[in-house]
Amino acid sequence: MAATKPPSCSTRLRSPASTAAACFLPAAALFLLVLLRRPPMGSFPPAVPGGSVSSRRAELYGRMARDLDERGAAFLEGGETSQSLTLSELFDTREDGAVVPRLKVANPPVRANVLYLDPEFAAVISKAVKEVFLPYFNQAIWFQNTSIYHFSMFHTSHHLEPIVATVEQIEAEVGAVKRVSEAVCPLRIVLDRVVLTSTGVLLGLWQVESGTDPADIRSRLREALPHAPQKQLYDPVLLHTSLARILGHPKLPQEGSAQSLDRVKFFHDLVAQVNRKIRGFKATVSELWFVEEYDVLALALNGKMKVRRLQFGCNEGLGNGKI
Ligand SMILES: *[C@@H]1O[C@H](CO)[C@@H](O)[C@H](O)[C@H]1NC(C)=O
Repeated sequence: MAATKPPSCSTRLRSPASTAAACFLPAAALFLLVLLRRPPMGSFPPAVPGGSVSSRRAELYGRMARDLDERGAAFLEGGETSQSLTLSELFDTREDGAVVPRLKVANPPVRANVLYLDPEFAAVISKAVKEVFLPYFNQAIWFQNTSIYHFSMFHTSHHLEPIVATVEQIEAEVGAVKRVSEAVCPLRIVLDRVVLTSTGVLLGLWQVESGTDPADIRSRLREALPHAPQKQLYDPVLLHTSLARILGHPKLPQEGSAQSLDRVKFFHDLVAQVNRKIRGFKATVSELWFVEEYDVLALALNGKMKVRRLQFGCNEGLGNGKI
């Protein structure tokens, strides 16, 4: 595991008057690290001039696809080490067997900039995922809400490096992000593949056909938001949506002998079925959302949040992303 140690938690205050924010939720931090197991953005070289962003993206996706083979279906082991957070710790099971998120207040709230996928597209993906996975998992699976499919881009405060801000400072961040969004052009994207991570998260991984590249959007946001955490959570070329989280063992038909069944192969087969249905699916992205997540992983778990929806302007002359 790359996440051998919870990252140390430092809190930067933008306002001296602010009260110190407690180091919160190393568990959530671990969850994200375990989820993608990528080093922070800083350890990746910036886009090489002449080098292709899309080929770096393809290479990253290849590595992510191999995760399940290399680490196995770790999500089925449950609480295997004292430090690993299994997805099931984020949910409760009701008496009727349904899973409900175990929401925890994020203090301070996380401030995330995400690209938004219109529910019209999300519904197609969600339908395919449910058709394949529901028969085997019934209620031991959590599906991402199709109203809030998103691609995480850049955080101005996150759990590893909480940056407390006043209401005015947050409004200034929103203004800076708005100016960035005015220069961004709609993205035409294509679903490169669906992968299942060893932690049980089903991810959609996307390539960009046209529009402003996510790597470019992230660097514009970095420039526009000088107080944002130095360490960001994702590889700059990554463009991903979480589709579902597997929380328990599959229900297998009687004839499938549990002994002989290769679990990793079983999951690969399910993922291959999803890929046959939706690989190559195309979508257009035209909104950037500035989201204050008041609950941990609010965007993933239907938690409490405040959203500012910003339309892309595709107007270079208007905004260059600087405050
Ligand atoms: C899905 O998200 C929308 C928008 O945030 C919300 O109104 C709706 O209640 C959510 N659905 C569920 C099942 O929580």
